[in-house]
Parts: sequence; structure tokens; C-alpha cells
Amino acid sequence: MTPAGTAVAATPSREAQAWWPVALAADVTRQPAPATLLGQELVLWRSESGAVAMADQCPHRGARLSLGQVHNDTLQCPYHGWRFGSGGECVSIPAVPGFTPPASHSACRYDTQEAHGLVWVRLTRPATPGTSAGATGNALGLPGLDHLPARRLIYGPFDVATSAPRAVENFLDTSHFAFVHQGWLGDAAHPEVPHYEVTHTADGRPVIEDYRAWQPRAAASAAGGDWVHYRYEVLSPYAALLSKHGQAGGPQDHYTIWACPSGPEHCRLWFAQYTTDTESTDDALRDFQIAIFAQDQPVLESQRPRRLPISGGEAMSAADRLSVAYRRYLKASGITVGVC
Ligand code: FES
Ligand SMILES: [Fe+2]
Repeated sequence: MTPAGTAVAATPSREAQAWWPVALAADVTRQPAPATLLGQELVLWRSESGAVAMADQCPHRGARLSLGQVHNDTLQCPYHGWRFGSGGECVSIPAVPGFTPPASHSACRYDTQEAHGLVWVRLTRPATPGTSAGATGNALGLPGLDHLPARRLIYGPFDVATSAPRAVENFLDTSHFAFVHQGWLGDAAHPEVPHYEVTHTADGRPVIEDYRAWQPRAAASAAGGDWVHYRYEVLSPYAALLSKHGQAGGPQDHYTIWACPSGPEHCRLWFAQYTTDTESTDDALRDFQIAIFAQDQPVLESQRPRRLPISGGEAMSAADRLSVAYRRYLKASGITVGVC
């Protein structure tokens, strides 16, 4: 593996050392595409050896590499045609034929991985291997998802004008269902939130093992209302898993939210659904989830401050225990981006 980029602060933040999703794997192709992670502009492209992420800034005169093209497994800058290999190395300067570019002419290239249908990037490597944020043993520092049903659909990206923690907290919040998702996930006649217990995993991530709710239309396949058991698990500072269990014999659905902190007050989201539903078409499942998030997005973008307050400053009720636990977890994790 070639060295990770150096375009981040000399003292890397915890976030810079963590892995973040930046694009659907299927969207990273031989056509270069821009993305933004923690304020760093990236160009994403696919080489013969896999997805590549580089700073979207040519080391020659700073042109956007995402306006360039891929030729012979190299990314060519649109301005003077310098070409860069998948490790960031400059392999050709057309104006100086026969010249072998030195390492100082390399583009800034970042580590990438492909997992869960997405491309993940980290901006800098941890000083001590194995200490990456939230490390739980696997390469992304995330709990495994191998136990989820094989049918997976990914919805997004959704670009949202709020912080990643606000978006994740909304995913964990049940008391908005009767208002934002009236007739779908909630019922105005039942706005109450039953008591639930928040527990924690051994590495400190909040979990609700059982949350019981009445839902008028809990899933795309639902013909009517149903009692639904939810299980919530925070997977990492900006990711969570929701498992829904309806009546015996009905479909079992699991949803993840993956949030990319594009900047402190903007995020890019994907929702992945893992389902045992074999009846509903992909379009029906997608339309349902897109309709749900279309209900969430205006409210999410209206929240002020856009950064999630993790040191007080917002009123809490007894229904907000999971939000409280999530904020404490962020604080204990040393998260600084998207919070205040
Ligand atoms: S700015 Fe990229 S080759 Fe000159
Ligand atoms: Fe919602």
C-alpha cells in the first residue's frame, strides 16, 4: 500500500484516522467523480486494482483532477496532461518526454476499502496500527454485518444540510414518528414512547434491545398496521443499525444509516436495507424508503444549530434516553466534527 495522503493537519483528528463512506462502489468508475470528506475535496476513480481516492487538486498547478480522464489505468489531469497511477505516483509529463517524474510530483492519494456496497476512505493513518477509531477487529473498525439477510438494497446518496450526528440521531429517534411520519411509521393517536432500556456493547456503543411500537405502515409490504419490535444499535459515531421484527412469518427488515461527514454542517447519507422480503420489488422498497426520508429531510435541515450539542444546551425528555446515550457516546469517543 502506498503512503496515505498528507493534506490533513499535522495533528490528525480522530475523524481523520477513521474510515468513512464516500460513494456507492458502483458509482466509482473509470469516469472520475468528485466527493468531499471532512472538508477535503477528493477525486474518486476506478483503476484495475480497485477504487482510488486522491486529493482533487493536481500537484502541478492545482487544477481539479476530477475534470480529467482515465487512460491506460492512470488519471490524466485536464490542464497539462500529467498522468498519475493508482498509488498517486506521477508517471508522465507530456511536455517533457522521457522525463521520469520524482516522488515530489505525486498526487496526494488516500487509503481506500470497499465494503457494504460502498467505498470507504481515511484521510490519514493512525500513528499506532490497530488504534483506528472505534476499532472492533475488522478492517473498518465496525461490527460485522454478516448475520443480516442477503437481499440488500442501498438508497442514496442523500446530500443533507446538517451534520452527520444530527442525521444519525434522527435515525435513532422514535418520538418523531407520530408527527413526521404520520400514517407511515407513526400514528397521531399514539404519540407516546413506551419505556425502553438503553444498554451498551462491551466497547461502549448504545443499544436498545427491544423497543415496541405500533406502526400504521411499517414496511413497503405492509397492508395495515402492526406491532413492531425494533432493535437499535449504534455501530460507530456516524452509523447505526435498526432491526425491525414484525409478526411471525412477516418480513424481517434491517436498516443501516451510513453518514459521511462531508463537512461539519453537511453530510452525505446512504441507507442500506437488508430484508427477508422476497415479494416486494426493488422499486417498491426504494420508493417507500425515499418517501420516508423525504419526510425527514426538511425537518433535519431546519434544526439549529446544525452541529449536535453534546455538552448540554437542548432540552431532553424521558423519551430521549437513546439520544442522551448517543451524545454521551460521541463525547466519550472524542468526536469533534459535527458537534458543539
Ligand atoms: S495543473 Fe495538472 S498538469 Fe498542470
Ligand atoms: Fe424519520
